[in-house]
Amino acid sequence: MFAASKIQTNSKPETYALLVAQARGMLAGEPDRIANAANLSALVFDALPDLNWVGFYFFDGRELVVGPYQGKPACVRIALGRGVCGTAAATRSTQLVHDVHAFAGHIACDSASNAEIVVPIVARDGTLVGVWDVDSPSVGRFDDDDRVGMEALVRVFVDALDHQAAAHG
Ligand code: SME
Repeated sequence: MFAASKIQTNSKPETYALLVAQARGMLAGEPDRIANAANLSALVFDALPDLNWVGFYFFDGRELVVGPYQGKPACVRIALGRGVCGTAAATRSTQLVHDVHAFAGHIACDSASNAEIVVPIVARDGTLVGVWDVDSPSVGRFDDDDRVGMEALVRVFVDALDHQAAAHG
């Protein structure tokens, strides 16, 4: 049984399917990026077990700047290409890190973090928006099911950005 505080299912894919549906409902019709980022962080931090940091870094045109999140205070700015977040942003590919201490250049914001998954957030027009960063105290916490699930959650966020663009022309 893969147990979460609010969601109880038999598998990670089922859990993520429910989370994605909840996220879609929560973000539906809301164009504010900060509001959506804050609520998505809170939803995932509350629903999934064994996490210590969940949230956003946004690209300001130069580097990544911390956005809404749940967890301990974090590093504010991360250069593209630095650490797990900067690597995900620079390569635009999800970084699934089994053990952060084995990742060259890992930035230790919260010493409790031992595993990490970072998904790049890229708008439909190809613009880099930022990254979605999820950390766990448990080595090996994230696997390919988490990658698929987290990427689906990021798509919900990106779809809401499209509504924002439509709303504001
Ligand atoms: N560990 C990250 C930095 C961000 S925090 O974990 C919140 C990294 O190496 O990019």
